[in-house]
Amino acid sequence: MKYFIDTANLDQIKEANDLGILDGVTTNPTLMAKEGIKGEEAVFNHYKTICEIVKNGDVSAEVTAIDFQGIINQGKKLAAIHKNIVVKVPMIAEGVKAIKWFTDNNIRTNCTLIFSAGQAMIAAKAGAAYVSPFIGRIDDSGWDGLELIQQIANIFAIQNIKTEILAASIRNSLHIIRCAEAGANVCTCPLDSIVGLTKHPLTDIGLAKFMQDAKKFE
Ligand code: E4P
Repeated sequence: MKYFIDTANLDQIKEANDLGILDGVTTNPTLMAKEGIKGEEAVFNHYKTICEIVKNGDVSAEVTAIDFQGIINQGKKLAAIHKNIVVKVPMIAEGVKAIKWFTDNNIRTNCTLIFSAGQAMIAAKAGAAYVSPFIGRIDDSGWDGLELIQQIANIFAIQNIKTEILAASIRNSLHIIRCAEAGANVCTCPLDSIVGLTKHPLTDIGLAKFMQDAKKFE
C-alpha cells in the first residue's frame, strides 16, 4: 500500500517525506485555505513547492469549478504546474465527463467525494487514476467506511479494474491498518496517523530497558 499525506502544510509534508516512506500528497480546498494561500499564483507556487519536496510522488490538486468547461480549464492549468500533479475532480456528472476528457488527453485524475461503490465504478470507467472514498466521513455519519473500501476492492478485483483505491478522510492509525486489510491501494493520512503507526508502549518500555542495560557495558 502507498502512503500519501493529506495536508497542504509544507512542514508536515517535509516531516513525512523525511521518514522516507512517503509516496504522495493529497490536498483539497479546505486544506489549502487552512494554510492561508490566496490567489492563483500563490496556489500554483504552493503546489510546485509540494511537488519539489516529494519529488517522485503524485500530488493531488483539486479543481474548484463544478461545470465541465470550468473543470477542464482549471485542470489543464493545474496539470501544467508539474508532471506529478494529479487533477482532483469531484464525483458529479460534469466531473465524470471531465475525467473522461482528461483521460483522453493523458491527464491523470483523482475522483474525490466517493461515498458509494457505484460512484467508484463510474469514475473508474471514465478512466480516473484514483478514486477517493471518504471513510472517516462515512464513519462520522454512522455507516462503515471500511465496508465501502472492501466492496470497491472486491469489484475492482473481479472486474480487473486498474484504477487505484485511495482511502481518504482517515481519522486514526487503526484506519490505515484496516484500509490495508480491506484492499486499499493508497491511504492518504494526517501526519499524526502516520507517525502513530510507529508507536507502541511495549516498544518504549523495551527501549528504556535496553538503554539502561547498555550503560552497563559502555
Ligand atoms: C483527501 O483527498 C480528502 O479531501 C480528505 O481526506 C478529506 O478528509 P476529511 O474528511 O478529514 O476532511
